[in-house]
Amino acid sequence: MSQKGYILGVFLLGLFSLSVIFKFSKKQIGIQWEELLDASSMLSNGLEPEASKARNMICETKKKRDGIWTVWSRGRLGNQLGQYAALYALAKLNDHEAYIQQDTHNWLAPIFKISLPVLHRDTAGKIPWRNLWLHDWMSEEYYDIEDKYLRLTGYPCSWTFYHHIREEIAQEFTFHDFIKAETNKHLEQIKGTRKNATFIGVHVRRGDYVQIMPKAWKGVLGDKTYLEKAMDYFRTKYQEPVFVVTSNGMAWCKENINISKGDVYFSGDGVESSPGKDFALLVHCNHTIMTIGTFGFWASYLAGGETIYLANFTLPDSKFLKILHYDTTFLPEWIGIPADLSPLQYELANKEAPPGKTSSSTLG
Ligand SMILES: *[C@@H]1O[C@H](CO)[C@@H](O)[C@H](O)[C@H]1NC(C)=O
Ligand SMILES: *[C@@H]1O[C@H](CO)[C@@H](O)[C@H](O)[C@H]1NC(C)=O
Ligand SMILES: *[C@@H]1O[C@H](CO)[C@@H](O)[C@H](O)[C@H]1NC(C)=O
Ligand SMILES: *[C@@H]1O[C@H](CO)[C@@H](O)[C@H](O)[C@H]1NC(C)=O
Repeated sequence: MSQKGYILGVFLLGLFSLSVIFKFSKKQIGIQWEELLDASSMLSNGLEPEASKARNMICETKKKRDGIWTVWSRGRLGNQLGQYAALYALAKLNDHEAYIQQDTHNWLAPIFKISLPVLHRDTAGKIPWRNLWLHDWMSEEYYDIEDKYLRLTGYPCSWTFYHHIREEIAQEFTFHDFIKAETNKHLEQIKGTRKNATFIGVHVRRGDYVQIMPKAWKGVLGDKTYLEKAMDYFRTKYQEPVFVVTSNGMAWCKENINISKGDVYFSGDGVESSPGKDFALLVHCNHTIMTIGTFGFWASYLAGGETIYLANFTLPDSKFLKILHYDTTFLPEWIGIPADLSPLQYELANKEAPPGKTSSSTLG
């Protein structure tokens, strides 16, 4: 081959690689855009094409068992995250393909870059599912499930299902770029003129739980003293802490959180209109103070810093302890502050409380 031909060959090869690289990156962008579209518009055969393509690529390296698994869609954001993560982890563990319901997608896809494909409602309705009610901790029997068509039900949330693949779970629950940008801007405003701010997200779960916790579950919510102790922990540790408070009972927060130190910021109006916004704010903070509920759990888990949680918030004979185990709910490295159960004990001792009707099984 002449030298000229050789040079031409190298040139053409270079051009070819460039075009391949270009095509590939265009495809990546394409996938991101697809995620933002309404899934229903791309459900020609009942499956989301890009996502199923991506899964097929993964399948080339490891053959999946036949059939598909899904999880029901119940409750609000915190429950939806728990259901998604449990499906993702258990399907992977058992080598089954996982598909989410349209409702799960509607909750999560507007906020996160989730990757599991969506099952069309019509398709989901035709599949002969076996329902498997999950309790909220990992156990032996979940390691080897052979069902071809399995629908996980219940309110799984425990880290024991998915903590071994936490990077993948964090990847699934990555915020869309526009939410990241908005949230960072918001935190910059909250930071103000501080030079060395440390953000601590505070989630104060109230709403329906104000009634449900004492009546149905013999438990308490995070009170004023708990929040003070937790905030003082961070005030001692960090030079310029900023507490970003989110709650579905903001009026209570404003009455019970002392703002005299000038380091407390109340976010939103506390009417649960935009849980995604509050959630993004908490996750972008450096550390978390949670009270109870899956929303606070997920904010803590994804923020990934230090977490203070309300420990032992139920009486020993609470039915809550049958559906939730403290050690499979809170990570071992998190810091628990025991709840003050005395108001509850006082109430029980002084008036015979009516036998609590177990009104809600969602742990939202
Ligand atoms: C910022 O604050 C942290 C503790 O909150 C401290 O360890 C660090 O030295 C501070 N940095 C500066 C530049 O002051
Ligand atoms: C708030 O805390 C300050 C001390 O930091 C205290 O002087 C004040 O009385 C407290 N306010 C309320 C309403 O408890
Ligand atoms: C704390 O959080 C802010 C906002 O997300 C971030 O910019 C900063 O890097 C974090 N600081 C540390 C020490 O991780
Ligand atoms: C909660 O109660 C258990 C049993 O009494 C105890 O071992 C544990 O230390 C308590 N947790 C915290 C954080 O105080």
